[in-house]
Amino acid sequence: MAIQNTQTETLSTGMTMTGGARFLRACLRQPVDCTPVWFLRQAGRYMPEYQAVRRVHSLMEICKSPALAAEVTITAAEKLDVDAAIIFADLLLPLEPMGLDFVFQAGEGPQVYRPIRSAADINALRTDRTADLGYVAEAIARVTAHFGDRMGMIGFCGAPFTLASYMIEGGGSRNYTATKYLMYNDPAAWEALMQKLATVLADYAAQQVEAGADVIQIFDSWAGALSVTDYREFVLPITQSLVRRVQDQGVPVIYFGVDTASLLPSMRETGADVIGLDWRIPLDAGRLAVGEHCAVQGNLDPIALFAPESLLRARVEEVLRQADGRPGHIFNVGHGIVPGTPVEKVQRVVGWVREICAQLKAESTDLGREPALRQI
Ligand code: CP3
Repeated sequence: MAIQNTQTETLSTGMTMTGGARFLRACLRQPVDCTPVWFLRQAGRYMPEYQAVRRVHSLMEICKSPALAAEVTITAAEKLDVDAAIIFADLLLPLEPMGLDFVFQAGEGPQVYRPIRSAADINALRTDRTADLGYVAEAIARVTAHFGDRMGMIGFCGAPFTLASYMIEGGGSRNYTATKYLMYNDPAAWEALMQKLATVLADYAAQQVEAGADVIQIFDSWAGALSVTDYREFVLPITQSLVRRVQDQGVPVIYFGVDTASLLPSMRETGADVIGLDWRIPLDAGRLAVGEHCAVQGNLDPIALFAPESLLRARVEEVLRQADGRPGHIFNVGHGIVPGTPVEKVQRVVGWVREICAQLKAESTDLGREPALRQI
């Protein structure tokens, strides 16, 4: 983690804000000196430093050791020179204190030993042991102590639907049959499950905010499996309630899902401050779908990081041109960086975001337009 962070210096790009200020202001749709940038799964397996830690520790050991989780978080954020760090943890951690044990199978993703299927299983879930997750908050405290304002600090949790899908299916799923079976056939049990999850997740997010998280990202990664009607009937109300409870802690919420083009107007109704867009929808169309009073995050195809530099740069520029320099855009990938991604490409993207923002700012000034990316 020896790489010098340059974000507080005034670069040729005219940047003057700290990464933390730039990121937080964009979440709140306030003008920034340059579009902030970070990446979903920025600290994952594509990074050699992470692989080195993983050779000696399991994923759960890293998550449960605040020193290791903080180190992995900090190393990735510094190496990429991004504007925000996301705490190294996993979506499924809250399952354990709720009473569901799981393992990460090499190459196969998570597996829950005894998936829930019935109202009785849901009754047995505990909501009073969220303090057991304190190791995540402790890791956040270490990262914020290290970075101060230099970086935004992102805490995260799963959304009720996406976590319920793991609890019920026992792992990843193609059709979510068991999840939807419960949702359709026992709506009272479904509601009880949603309520229990929201209780635990709100407490968990509050711990993270208390420890220094500036923003909470709620991952509803698999919400795109739902029709608009089912999303609105079975998922929107509880997610709305979770978003509100997190915002009551005094931080903005980023709400993210994949394959959500048709759900975006409904996702906006959760009240989240920022909606994460995947790459399938052009950024400007996504923004139109969520409306004026909401920021957007995204949405480069993470697999474009495997393209030649000229094509990759063109895709980065396309996202930024579609964002049009209006306040309320955070540059990101449309879903997590995948293993095998060349780290240098990710670093190049960060540089291009800053370069292209400066260029677009100059263009808009030349045209006599209100400079879109204003300095304070
Ligand atoms: O880059 C980072 O900052 C990593 C931190 C992070 C992890 N999981 C660690 C992890 C984050 C933000 C997550 C979130 C997560 N976990 C999500 C939501 C994000 C998304 O992609 O939509 C989901 C669905 C999970 C559940 C999960 N964890 C799965 C499906 C898998 C296996 C598939 C995969 O990508 O490997 C995991 C394992 C996991 N969690 C790994 C990491 C770095 C890789 C496994 C390992 O290192 O052993």
